[in-house]
Amino acid sequence: MLPQTRFSYPDRLTIERLPDGGDKNAFAADVLEGLTKRPKALPPKYFYDELGSRLFEAICRLPEYYLTRAEAEILKFGAEEIVSAVAGPVRLIELGSGSAEKTRHIIEALLRRQPELQYVPVDISDASLESSSRELLRTYQGLRITAYAGDYFTALRAIARARKDSRGSLRTIALFLGSNIGNFDPEGARLFLKNVRQTLKPKDALLIGADLKKDRQTLEAAYDDPLGVTSAFNLNLLLRMNRELAAEFDVSKFKHHAEYNEQQGRVEIYIVSLENQTIRIGALDTEVSFYEGETIHIENSYKFDLNQLSEIAAETGYTLAKTWFDRSRRFSFNLFAAA
Ligand code: TRP
Repeated sequence: MLPQTRFSYPDRLTIERLPDGGDKNAFAADVLEGLTKRPKALPPKYFYDELGSRLFEAICRLPEYYLTRAEAEILKFGAEEIVSAVAGPVRLIELGSGSAEKTRHIIEALLRRQPELQYVPVDISDASLESSSRELLRTYQGLRITAYAGDYFTALRAIARARKDSRGSLRTIALFLGSNIGNFDPEGARLFLKNVRQTLKPKDALLIGADLKKDRQTLEAAYDDPLGVTSAFNLNLLLRMNRELAAEFDVSKFKHHAEYNEQQGRVEIYIVSLENQTIRIGALDTEVSFYEGETIHIENSYKFDLNQLSEIAAETGYTLAKTWFDRSRRFSFNLFAAA
């Protein structure tokens, strides 16, 4: 049997690789900056190399990571009603599409009311984009995909440019699933939402998942599971530096740490050095020292309440038109209508 080739859907799939998607020099520069500042920090987008993307998919299957199932429950039972908020036909943009499994509910609801659908996924991992796009095209005859491999801001500019050139009258539904909005700090979230708003017209919509504030125990378990999958996902960042930047991290001398900062309303994720040590990073021709207990801050995952969400919407050019919840009200799914 012939292997699946990248040309299996030549007329239905385009993948645009943006200059900064997987750029080794950008990674090297960000690592140098992040590990020489105090306190040390690294940007979370570098989690998602091929192995990291697969580990994140494994996180999404963990019982402790309730977010995926809560959101899937909302989409499974609410997709029809959710998409009916935007009169069709539409095209569908998704920011951070990953495996695009939850997206299927939305795609199916749309294909029930329009014969063809243009789907525009954006993801930092081009491996995820390729495999998820292929699987979707195999399932849905009416689908056309233009995918962008790169970071959100670069991709949004490219999408806005492409839209200006085509004089299409389609409305747009943009999707931002999972708890991705929570990974920005408050100013970053506002900047991102304004950028998305610029690719939308009045009456378009952004559908956005947001995890809700809840007890510490539930939150910390979601980001530090007993099987150690989340730890592997986090520490893979050290191995990625070994693989791509000739660094010499020994992962057994670091550990994963997740902690709910209730005052700030966010789960903070760190890598902690277990001893005093100095690590060579070949590609940067430098050495980085750690003291015992020193942290590298990797990510925050903000948790929201409804007041915050409607405030953020109003400040960035939307109105919070409707919110859906799972049955146990752990997670919210929000319709930001472009004002
Ligand atoms: N967007 C995810 C979230 O905030 C990312 C995530 C899940 C994550 N688990 C993690 C990031 C563990 C770092 C470590 O829920």
